[in-house]
Amino acid sequence: MQTTVYDLAVIGLGYIGLPTAAIFAAKGKLVAGVDVKQATVDAVNRGEVPFVEPDMGVVVSGAVSLGNLVAMTEVPHANAYIIAVPTPLAEGKGADMSYLTSAVEALAPKLRGGELVILESTSPPGTTERLAAHLARVRPDLWSGAGEGAAQVHVVHSPERVLPGRIMIEMATNDRVIGGLTDEGAQLAKKLYEVICQGEILLTDATTAEMTKLVENTFRDVNIAFANELSVICDKLGIDVWRLIELANHHPRVNVLRPGPGVGGHCIAVDPWFIVDAAPQESGLIRTAREVNDAKPHHVVDRVTELLTDRESATVAVLGLAFKANIDDVRESPSMTIVQELARRLPLATILPVDPHVEDLPAALKNTGITAMHSLPEALAAADVVLLLVDHDQFLAVTPQDLEGKLVIDTKGIWNDRQAAVPVQPVLAGADSVG
Ligand SMILES: NC(=O)c1ccc[n+]([C@@H]2O[C@H](COP(=O)([O-])OP(=O)(O)OC[C@H]3O[C@@H](n4cnc5c(N)ncnc54)[C@H](O)[C@@H]3O)[C@@H](O)[C@H]2O)c1
Repeated sequence: MQTTVYDLAVIGLGYIGLPTAAIFAAKGKLVAGVDVKQATVDAVNRGEVPFVEPDMGVVVSGAVSLGNLVAMTEVPHANAYIIAVPTPLAEGKGADMSYLTSAVEALAPKLRGGELVILESTSPPGTTERLAAHLARVRPDLWSGAGEGAAQVHVVHSPERVLPGRIMIEMATNDRVIGGLTDEGAQLAKKLYEVICQGEILLTDATTAEMTKLVENTFRDVNIAFANELSVICDKLGIDVWRLIELANHHPRVNVLRPGPGVGGHCIAVDPWFIVDAAPQESGLIRTAREVNDAKPHHVVDRVTELLTDRESATVAVLGLAFKANIDDVRESPSMTIVQELARRLPLATILPVDPHVEDLPAALKNTGITAMHSLPEALAAADVVLLLVDHDQFLAVTPQDLEGKLVIDTKGIWNDRQAAVPVQPVLAGADSVG
């Protein structure tokens, strides 16, 4: 029986894999989307996106209805593979490579020789080489025939660098780094990505490509840590951090980022640890920046509890659970830490979480005594304290009248212009959690 040979199989249909699969399919490639979760596979085959990301729905449903995108749980044979499975932090702050190992084990038996295997998952330095070595170990037949150990399967790393909330735009327009173990592999990957990428495609070796992605996020993390540290210093010295940064940024060579409640998400809060893990003695600054950003949510909680020393049974509206604006992703979100700690330290308070993008109370908050999410009007009406943690568009529309008579803590600085209208307003510095 003739089985379908896909142009491309994308393994892992999450925030990165699904748009990648759909965009290739929309460009005419026959794409298999592979995921271990049956519910995800079923949703994609119905043309649905199982998470919130602007503009993705129409591309996925279009690709599925054209017949160019088919989701499945088994890895099929394909001419090229893109692996986009999670690479989260393990205990001890190294990378948990178990998802990648499973994906490689599922993929190895399907190889026939000549395929391109692209690792898109964010990975510690050396991962692509180890991935190729793993394949060579389990499929020695594909690594022996071409003489002198030449690889007949081309293993390449191409890190994905899109920003959640802008994935559909950035996947097409961002420049792309491709790191090959061989020049031939890098060239083959370049040819493939040219189908979807209008940005510049830059070729390098695999380990440099791995480090490029880690360095980009680490650069952001270190700079955010500077802003977050400034915000804590300003709280101590009674200075408005937003005004301070605005003034400093008038200097032609200064561009201080905006502080916030901490740093969240699957990338910036995670990737610097992969560098620290690879070179612990040499990465003191990077480690310290991570620690500064991880400490910021606790500082926010300290400020809320200081405000409420005489009013322990107050009602606190917490605006925003996602790790950044206008998305539903709560992974590594500083809001999770803040809500958990508020619930623990203020057992008599009523905490009302609000997030227009998060329908159900996240699992991480289920043991806090909080039972449900709340609507914005309901929470604002009931609140003694309004704690803004995420600059979702819906929160920009909150008026000075909505905040009248309440204690307001704005960790994103979006209501700064409204301070005059709010009687008691200890506006806090907060942090920008950039994805
Ligand atoms: N989300 C982002 O903004 C972003 C940006 C750049 C890079 N990345 C990186 O891309 C990678 C994927 O991240 P994501 O956000 O798409 O993750 P995700 O959790 O949204 O999706 C991963 C998907 O892979 C599936 N999966 C897990 N193991 C599998 C396996 N063995 N076979 C098939 N499917 C499997 C999961 O069920 C899930 O649907 C990570 O390394 C991440 O660091 C993410």
